[in-house]
Amino acid sequence: MKTTLPLERFKQLRTPFYYYDTRILRETLKVISDEMRALGNCEVHYAVKANANPKLLPIISSYGLGADCVSGGEIEAALKSGFPADKIVFAGVGKADWEINLALDNDIFCFNVESVPELEIINELAASKGKTASVAFRINPDVGAHTHANITTGLAENKFGINMDDMEGIIARAMALDHVHFVGLHFHIGSQILDLDADFLPLCERINALQDQLESRGVRVENINVGGGLGVDYDHPEQHLIPDFKAYMSMFAKHLQLRPWQTLHFEPGRSIVAQCGSLISRVLYVKQSANKQFAIIDAGMTELIRPALYQAHHFIENLTSNEETEIYDVVGPICESSDLFGRDERLPRVRRGDLIALRSSGAYGEAMASTYNCRALPKSYILEDLI
Ligand code: LLP
Repeated sequence: MKTTLPLERFKQLRTPFYYYDTRILRETLKVISDEMRALGNCEVHYAVKANANPKLLPIISSYGLGADCVSGGEIEAALKSGFPADKIVFAGVGKADWEINLALDNDIFCFNVESVPELEIINELAASKGKTASVAFRINPDVGAHTHANITTGLAENKFGINMDDMEGIIARAMALDHVHFVGLHFHIGSQILDLDADFLPLCERINALQDQLESRGVRVENINVGGGLGVDYDHPEQHLIPDFKAYMSMFAKHLQLRPWQTLHFEPGRSIVAQCGSLISRVLYVKQSANKQFAIIDAGMTELIRPALYQAHHFIENLTSNEETEIYDVVGPICESSDLFGRDERLPRVRRGDLIALRSSGAYGEAMASTYNCRALPKSYILEDLI
């Protein structure tokens, strides 16, 4: 499979904009749903934070996925796009009362709870509605992921989850409360993880040990949620358009000691949407300085903040030039030195008006866009809009 980039249509459009190849997205979703079926007893909740575009969400829900939400807004977006309430999980360290009420009113599958005070508020709000909330506890497994420090979440020093030593206490607390029902354990160690053995194996081992510990105390765990985190190939997007979901999902099935009654849950975000998206931009100016050549494009960190925030690199393609290559720093128009997409990029000779694609931008691109410098939020098109 190859990405379709409708260049003639791109030329007619005002830049910058996000473009999503829905054929790639659908193929990715087909692979995941096939793997889900092959594995049995498992559910996949798409992490809406990666991309909540209203044209993409209904496609994702149509493949039978649930949704992993971290705000009331995401719950509303998921429900509107056809995700069934009983496949919605609600995570986050700071759930506001209105968000908890919204989740209770819609009878979502489960709250992924991150602290005792949060548990007590959920219990109180559920009681006032005469309901019982299903809760899973997000346990901080103290397993480090070999990824950027800003997207590592499973270390004891991170703000996420409940310390392993406090796990039994909070489960006991939940059992003593009348309006919450303990249904499982939740984990998430980080994002953009490529070495499955180095990062996910220790997680499996930790989960196995915690399960044994709970079982010896007579606690039955119905659901194990291992979060998201599977990475994508940002350097060679076209060679790896669809991440290896088989290797990823079957490694958990193989290494976790799942009990026959348990359901395994996943929360992938990036691996579903990253490769179908590109940020399309035009070259405004080519500027020469003493020892550098800058390609100044009309997209900036306002549209794609990942390079500025995580020193991420997105593959840069000049879609409209076949000339000899030259070396450029590719930068945006925003008044920040960190507004830089690539240093010393070798690109076919760049001229004003050329179209530049920043590839693998479907995840955490549009979703993290801002209006800094009074810029408009980027428009977006899917393949069907342009053919
Ligand atoms: N579940 C939980 C509890 C999470 O915190 C996250 C991501 C996911 C699932 C989905 O993870 P994924 O499969 O996408 O790795 N903005 C950053 C990534 C932040 C990830 C936050 N949590 C980036 O652009 O790299």
